[in-house]
Amino acid sequence: MSIFWSDVVHKLDPYVPGEQPKVAKLIKLNTNENPYGPSPKVLEAIRLGTGDQLRMYPDPNAYDLKRAIAEYHQINVNQIFLGNGSDEVLAHIFYTLFQHDTPLLFPDITYSFYPIYSQLYKIKYEEIALTDDFSVNINDYWQDNGGIIFPNPNAPTGKLLSIFEIETLLQFNTNSVVVIDEAYIDFGGKSAVTLINQYSNLLVTQTLSKSRSLAGMRLGYALGHIDLIEGLVRVKDSFNSYPIGSLAVAAGVASFEDHNYFEYTRNEVIVNRDIVSKQLGEIGFEVIPSAANFIFVRHTQRSAEELARGLNQLGIIVRHFAQDRISEYLRISIGRSEENQQLLTVLETLL
Ligand SMILES: Cc1ncc(COP(=O)(O)O)c(C=O)c1O
Repeated sequence: MSIFWSDVVHKLDPYVPGEQPKVAKLIKLNTNENPYGPSPKVLEAIRLGTGDQLRMYPDPNAYDLKRAIAEYHQINVNQIFLGNGSDEVLAHIFYTLFQHDTPLLFPDITYSFYPIYSQLYKIKYEEIALTDDFSVNINDYWQDNGGIIFPNPNAPTGKLLSIFEIETLLQFNTNSVVVIDEAYIDFGGKSAVTLINQYSNLLVTQTLSKSRSLAGMRLGYALGHIDLIEGLVRVKDSFNSYPIGSLAVAAGVASFEDHNYFEYTRNEVIVNRDIVSKQLGEIGFEVIPSAANFIFVRHTQRSAEELARGLNQLGIIVRHFAQDRISEYLRISIGRSEENQQLLTVLETLL
């Protein structure tokens, strides 16, 4: 604490990311990283990018990466906003598009960064309770608002809304921006990107951290109408005009080029998710059907906090949120098959 801090900084309650311990042999199922490494072609592109050229600033528009993303999603380059991880993209969205007199709406159980950005930028918000089975009910968002945001699939529940429900929401909510945070969409959902040409108030965010195994590179993007993108660029260029380094551009381009690797690894995660969900069900866990690379589970007899502690002592870390409504749940990222089997063995001994 310092007397030189501004009032806002005194009141901030910053986001606490899942731990990144430096212990070897730990099974790390707490931050929804991809258990498979990046494509070998991505690693080669990064190697080729390390040389004398690093003395120069990167392209402030990261045009090569935008072109690769545009081609993948079949959209125009000027419908893309790039950032240093989708967290940075989201921060700029909150600042650019959500500062209004009416409150921003998001679920009571969701990505915990949303209330923190709101606090940072002094944005009024209202949390809309998920239903008893942890679903987002779009009808609950039918009210005056300064914007709507939720992840699809939602985090930490892994529950998915259909593209039909998203479109229905866009049909009744035309006066504010709707942001669909698709950090996990590649593991089981249909992207709302197909709707951006029809709805000028829709922004879809995605990341290369999960399905493309590049969390360490920090790459994320928003897709939407050019006027929304222009606003985001104005804010970005007033903050940091070079958020994407040249190695990140090279890695991102190579990732979109290696489509086979992307398909193979995301399918492995999906197959393993379905296997581990079934196995956990057999040892007394309620498992919410997940469309993401993690599952949200509760044991019918044992406390989640106690299980998380027990797992941790035996070298497996999972995420437990000491938060209303979900304190009896664990969020478990899907690992490689052998890691998931180790998780099951350890859980069986703890139960
Ligand atoms: C729902 C959701 N959105 C966004 C992010 C941010 O991802 P990144 O900043 O790595 O792109 C995460 C990270 O876990 C997330 O769970």
